[in-house]
Amino acid sequence: MLLNLTILPGDGIGPEVTDEAVRVLELVAETFGHQLGLTRKNIGGAALVASKDPLPADTLQACLSSGAVLLGAVGGPAFDEYPRDLRPEAGLLRLRKELGAFANLRPAVCFPALQESSPLRPELAKGTDVLIVRELLGGLYFGEPRSIQGSAGSRVATNTMSYGEAEIERIARMAFELARTRRHKLVSVDKGNVLECSRLWREVVTRVGKNYRDVQLSHMYVDAAAMLLVMRPADFDVLLTENMFGDILSDQAGAVVGSLGLLASASIGGAVGVYEPVHGSAPDIAGKGIANPLGAILSAALLLRYSFRLEREAASIESAVSQVLDAGYRTRDLVTSGQSATSTTQMGEKVRESVKQLAARHEVAS
Ligand code: IPM
Ligand code: MG
Repeated sequence: MLLNLTILPGDGIGPEVTDEAVRVLELVAETFGHQLGLTRKNIGGAALVASKDPLPADTLQACLSSGAVLLGAVGGPAFDEYPRDLRPEAGLLRLRKELGAFANLRPAVCFPALQESSPLRPELAKGTDVLIVRELLGGLYFGEPRSIQGSAGSRVATNTMSYGEAEIERIARMAFELARTRRHKLVSVDKGNVLECSRLWREVVTRVGKNYRDVQLSHMYVDAAAMLLVMRPADFDVLLTENMFGDILSDQAGAVVGSLGLLASASIGGAVGVYEPVHGSAPDIAGKGIANPLGAILSAALLLRYSFRLEREAASIESAVSQVLDAGYRTRDLVTSGQSATSTTQMGEKVRESVKQLAARHEVAS
């Protein structure tokens, strides 16, 4: 198969972790007999510096004409004072919108080897395997009107949360379908005791659920969900929620399983899927070679699974990551006392060695 990818390294640690993910993809392509076509483009702060636009036209064009997009991260303190449309984040939001990526899947799995890396007691983190399904194109992120108005001292800021039935329905259907491939449990998270958006959300999700009688649906307020996510994270299977709640809860889920640096994401549902680690650009550690590349590497696995239906290839990356963690390799974000830290490039190298070993063993077996 020919895999045409657009690579958007972006800012901060984005380029370092993306490099490792691309090297893993190159190896997997070679191992399984696929061809990889790579086009690298700018996004975010890097694009602002190069061409004064956080999502230049040629970047968008490249993404639209490729099979999938692998992205690093965007943002940095140098751009904090830029107007909203000219912030690195605006490039990412526009990309999601232009590609129609309404469904953001964020799996958070507690690898057995990492139970000790969670800030929770190991017996609580153990067995956590939650798939957060975050609506990605609606809510406060995109709602109009939005503004800061008035004169200094008496300015008023406005954002709008707005959701249409069709918007809720399509993400709900996606979440139910995914629940069917897992443990058949879906918790829909909202703030129905306060927000109209959430009341409509709950009503529509319940209606969609009538077509998925085999999936056990429950509803939870977002404050209670935040609490349960640290008290009993292993109880969750699929967690469906709107854009802003999903942004917040997915960082929390990252911490629960040991580090946000491990979390991968797939933004799908539109013309082309975007795959990116959930962690941000982490400017404080950029360029030091200590960032965790596993979120990016696992995003590459999701890319193979969801954009190309290459399940074996995706699973080989995930098994390799699991094996490397079992063998005790830890980037700095994951070390517990007494362990030494593995660098970004070493971690990538270990994953590739493991992919090779697994492939060799499989060849012998078959
Ligand atoms: C994420 C990030 C983005 C978001 C930012 C960088 C715009 O936090 O992907 O979770 O809020 O969606
Ligand atoms: Mg976020």
